[in-house]
Amino acid sequence: MIEVKSVNINTYRDDAKYNILYDLSLDVIEGEILGVAGESGSGKSVFAKYLLGLNDSNLILNGGELIVDKKIIVSVDDYKEIRGKTISMIFQDAASALNPTFTIGSQLIDTIMLHNPLMDKKEARIKAISCLREVEIDYPEDRLDSCPHQLSGGMSQRVMIALALATEPKYLIADESTTALDKLIERQILDLLLKLNKERKLTIIFISHDLSILESMCDRVAILYAGELMEIVDRDNMVSNKFSHPYTRALRDCVPRITRETLPSTFRLKTINGQIEQNDKAMEGRCVFTNRCTQATDECIKSKPKFNGKFKCVNPIKIA
Ligand SMILES: Nc1ncnc2c1ncn2[C@@H]1O[C@H](COP(=O)(O)OP(=O)(O)OP(=O)(O)O)[C@@H](O)[C@H]1O
Ligand SMILES: [Mg+2]
Repeated sequence: MIEVKSVNINTYRDDAKYNILYDLSLDVIEGEILGVAGESGSGKSVFAKYLLGLNDSNLILNGGELIVDKKIIVSVDDYKEIRGKTISMIFQDAASALNPTFTIGSQLIDTIMLHNPLMDKKEARIKAISCLREVEIDYPEDRLDSCPHQLSGGMSQRVMIALALATEPKYLIADESTTALDKLIERQILDLLLKLNKERKLTIIFISHDLSILESMCDRVAILYAGELMEIVDRDNMVSNKFSHPYTRALRDCVPRITRETLPSTFRLKTINGQIEQNDKAMEGRCVFTNRCTQATDECIKSKPKFNGKFKCVNPIKIA
């Protein structure tokens, strides 16, 4: 299990402090697929990189705790111990995450040997082939000699997943990892991740701004806004509209549900009015979503709502 407790990450500009993640507590339960949703700039990638200790040095950690499988992660060495071995990550742009100058085989074999110092090259090659087979790459022996530029987008993504899994991690973070793919290939990669979750018991933190994909993939979805956790919703409750936070509803309303009736010329994609505001000192005494919220009242700017284990809102949607 990964436990994140009251994490604050700040950046400082012109003597002012900005909250990039604010009082964020979120657990990842073993075996689940946890979705992380939110508009661009809501802090999804900063959260993912925090789990791996990979954030830029101008993002300052001001308190909070990260516990991975009961071990408190504090130092650079603690992070080195879990990065890759316990938690791996795949990114949006697989082609640029792979090294263009080395073959797929050498990248896989090097990774495997680095994590298994007692393994010789022949054994590592056999494992590399089995990794490619696991991510359903055809003719894996032949593919070992391919360079990244010879692969299609979907195949590059599969190779990146194989590289991430070569070290046998327990947790995989997928940050917008299918966003750049066409819909058909995207579905194949999503199905592959679902298979790995089921068969390998791989716990997945699946980051996306696309709620419809999250609904189809995840056991629970965490909704982030301006670096704050607004709500956690189980998949069934998400699908049946049983959530409490007006921001969750606003996000969900933006998912196009195109039918014959909605398709005529009057059809418009919905958006949320306004933009995410800077989460600065002033926001620490009020709800950060107020200015865009359809349910905001005076109470929302009197104090910061507390997260009650499910959502953070003083004027939630009444669930029927
Ligand atoms: N190194 C940095 N210095 C200053 N601000 C940063 C830095 N990295 C990220 N931020 C800010 O932190 C906020 C969250 O960024 P993040 O990349 O986590 O968003 P995101 O939810 O992943 O967005 P997207 O959907 O576009 O990937 C943004 O306002 C961003 O500008
Ligand atoms: Mg991001």
